Amino acid sequence: MRILKDSFAVVERRAEHAVKFFYSHLFWHNPGIREMFPPSFVDMERQRDRLFAALTHVVSHLEDPALLPYLRDLGRDHRKFLAGPEHYTAVGASLLAALAEASGEAWTPEAEKAWGEAYQVIADAMIDGAASSEDPPWWDAEIVRHLQYGRDIAVLTLRPHQRLPYAPGQYVSVSSDRVPTTWRTYSLGNAPRADLTLDLHVSRIDGGRLSSHLVNAAQPGELLRLGAAGGGMTLRREEGRPVSFIAAGTGWAPVRAMLEDLVHRPPEHDVRLFVVARDQAHLYDRPLIEDLRRHCPWLAVTYITPAPGQHRNQATDRLATALSNRGLWPHQDVYVSGPPAFIDETAHLLEELGADPARIFYDAVPASGGARSRPLGFGEWFLNTPDTHWHNPAGRAPRGTGHGH
Ligand SMILES: Cc1cc2nc3c(=O)[nH]c(=O)nc-3n(C[C@H](O)[C@H](O)[C@H](O)COP(=O)(O)OP(=O)(O)OC[C@H]3O[C@@H](n4cnc5c(N)ncnc54)[C@H](O)[C@@H]3O)c2cc1C
Ligand code: HEM
Repeated sequence: MRILKDSFAVVERRAEHAVKFFYSHLFWHNPGIREMFPPSFVDMERQRDRLFAALTHVVSHLEDPALLPYLRDLGRDHRKFLAGPEHYTAVGASLLAALAEASGEAWTPEAEKAWGEAYQVIADAMIDGAASSEDPPWWDAEIVRHLQYGRDIAVLTLRPHQRLPYAPGQYVSVSSDRVPTTWRTYSLGNAPRADLTLDLHVSRIDGGRLSSHLVNAAQPGELLRLGAAGGGMTLRREEGRPVSFIAAGTGWAPVRAMLEDLVHRPPEHDVRLFVVARDQAHLYDRPLIEDLRRHCPWLAVTYITPAPGQHRNQATDRLATALSNRGLWPHQDVYVSGPPAFIDETAHLLEELGADPARIFYDAVPASGGARSRPLGFGEWFLNTPDTHWHNPAGRAPRGTGHGH
């Protein structure tokens, strides 16, 4: 263990070099593997972060009993990348070559032996997780409805070819053949339905590979691939504590799924929903929220948008004021969902208001995260609002095949 940690510390200082060497080695010696990875360099950076985040995680959790289930799940999920046992052998050889290269003189026979054995344990756990999973490698799901809200938001309804098990609040990774080898995570926007359909709420990121496709180009009839559901932001009902949901943008999707679940099994405590949007036009699900408010006596709703004509940044202050009016923070469960910077700032604000950090639930961006060098602040996020070409919410289904929800 000690040998691994010490030698990893040396490699970490030369991470950039090690990762470049790793991929050059891997792709040079195994030409077919290049096509399994995303084409652009941006994604190679993302991949670098992922690889090192994964290695760091593994090396720092070697004695943790939770490591094995993590690796088995990772292996199960790697089936969607079409990774087979032969690829693990190739990755292992390139990883050892890269570690040797980056370690220089610190690469002793003992270090080589320790890394070789550790990689074998990791690869075996992943291959075994893949082989013993009863889930399909991925779920094919047909787009059956595409509702577009303005230029930036779309709600896609998908019909998977077989049931995809999940809990309200979870997300899946999504890929389209039209944007090959690109997988991104999207929350599921509904509680499980009898007809097995699933909603994704997608916000278009400028220049974003998959989100631009899903919002502006994807059509009913197109097949998407979905990975197994993941994420820990699911309802904790057992203790019956009051609940607040705080959702920004399409962060509303998992909150909607959890609220639908509460509608089926009404809570004994009150629930308050804070919906944050860049402007009125981005409150795309307001009619449904109003319906819920009318039918659920336990639900109170606060919308937070900047006042018309006001600086968008004003929403930040409005959220702070609304949250400080709510009170009772130490005694309730809080679920926060939205862009990473929004989650960070809101969690911080809640802690200042006395909320119990252990009862604030959100899904942190995986270490793989974005390729941004510097996180956008909440204020900047508002300021950077893309232009919205909003159309009448009443005529909501320009390209859909069904009815509004
Ligand atoms: C747990 C989880 C759940 C998610 N759920 C949803 C959801 O329900 N709906 C949804 O629309 N998105 C959701 N996302 C975000 C989603 O996974 C993608 O990151 C997003 O759609 C961008 O992917 P892309 O391929 O379009 O952009 P990329 O091609 O990956 O990125 C293009 C550029 O935009 C930058 N960028 C990426 N994301 C953002 C961002 N949020 N803000 C500003 N710049 C960014 C990148 O750094 C890059 O420079 C979720 C993310 C996580 C981690
Ligand atoms: C010990 C072995 C490995 C570890 C620890 C590992 C770890 C990871 C992690 C943590 C991610 C990001 C999570 C995700 O997107 O689901 C990832 C993504 C990926 N892995 Fe692996 N992996 C391993 C082996 C392999 C092998 C053998 C292949 C097959 C060639 C492979 C191909 C990929 C691909 C294609 C991606 C997605 C890349 C992207 O979207 O940018 N991995 N890996």
